[in-house]
Amino acid sequence: MRRHLLSALICPRCGAHPMRAAGAEDVIDEGWVECPEGHRLEVRRGVLHTLDELTPQIAGQLDENARERRGELTDAEKDAYRRNISRIGIATYNRLIRDNARAALDAISIQGGRSLDLGGGSGWLAAELGHRGFEAVSLDIEDPHERLAQIEGGAAGRDFELVTDVLDAPGREAVDYVVGDMEQLPFADSAFDLVTTSAALHHSSDPVRTLRHAARVLRPGGVLLALNEPAKGVFRDESPILGGRGEAAGEHLYWARTYVGFFRAAGLEPRLHFPGWIDRTLRERNWSGVVYYRRLLPLAGWVWSAPMVRTLARGPLLRPAIDLFGLTLICEARKPA
Ligand SMILES: C[S@@+](CC[C@H](N)C(=O)[O-])C[C@H]1O[C@@H](n2cnc3c(N)ncnc32)[C@H](O)[C@@H]1O
Ligand SMILES: [Zn+2]
Repeated sequence: MRRHLLSALICPRCGAHPMRAAGAEDVIDEGWVECPEGHRLEVRRGVLHTLDELTPQIAGQLDENARERRGELTDAEKDAYRRNISRIGIATYNRLIRDNARAALDAISIQGGRSLDLGGGSGWLAAELGHRGFEAVSLDIEDPHERLAQIEGGAAGRDFELVTDVLDAPGREAVDYVVGDMEQLPFADSAFDLVTTSAALHHSSDPVRTLRHAARVLRPGGVLLALNEPAKGVFRDESPILGGRGEAAGEHLYWARTYVGFFRAAGLEPRLHFPGWIDRTLRERNWSGVVYYRRLLPLAGWVWSAPMVRTLARGPLLRPAIDLFGLTLICEARKPA
């Protein structure tokens, strides 16, 4: 972690700040930071550890992630994983999360400052924000080094393609990694200009609580960008996707209107965006890695060439399209100034 992060932190035990650290170097690799009451948080391999106790939500997520990476799914779970998730493939997954993020980031008004990614996993989104000039923080319940070691260590025991976010050079990017809970953020009020989350909000046991924390740490006028959240659709049957382990894996599937209600309940003003990856896929008519609606795709690609259709799909037809087809939810939610 870089020293500048100290000014954004509050003590997860007593809420006091500012935090301080020993030494004077700009990048803290090993050591600790300390609050005014003397509570210490460890820094190991550059990662700040703020988790004191594991809530049931966190313990469940850690167990389930580890089981999947070791390849210890039941036959029914493996079968569902292969048919639904491995079929997308790790390369397509990483392209689609990035395409969706880049299109949304290009479209919002916040183009610099301090950013926080919730449930950041490998840190790919924080790295993208770092490249765009943000002072980027990635927060997850997992240490990115331990996460990578589990993914690599489990490879021999897996007989299905694991689909997860990857970053080529974790740690070498300009990212501050924090191990912490998105449901209880260890940051000061108004510390961030932009808070992002990709495919992680639906893992929260209480999305409104998580979003209230996100709103608290955002400055007035700041933006929360929720990306790549699965949404329910009339024609999208998600029930068999994980072979029955949806609950254990922390997978919650909500309607778009439920998400919109969550953002409003947290005091944010939501606006949906059309997913950049779907736009690109339809423009390029490249269907590799597309799992859903395969028979509709050639027709959709043809219709998509009409500019009027694309305009309508970004406007009045967006909500109906999400509700019918379960398109990935991309939502910009502003904190009132
Ligand atoms: C499906 S992964 C998404 C990872 C990455 N953001 C992406 O775009 O693919 C969900 C992530 O949420 C994290 N997570 C789950 N519960 C969390 C919590 N309470 N606080 C922070 N992160 C959490 C998991 O460890 C995991 O990395
Ligand atoms: Zn303290």
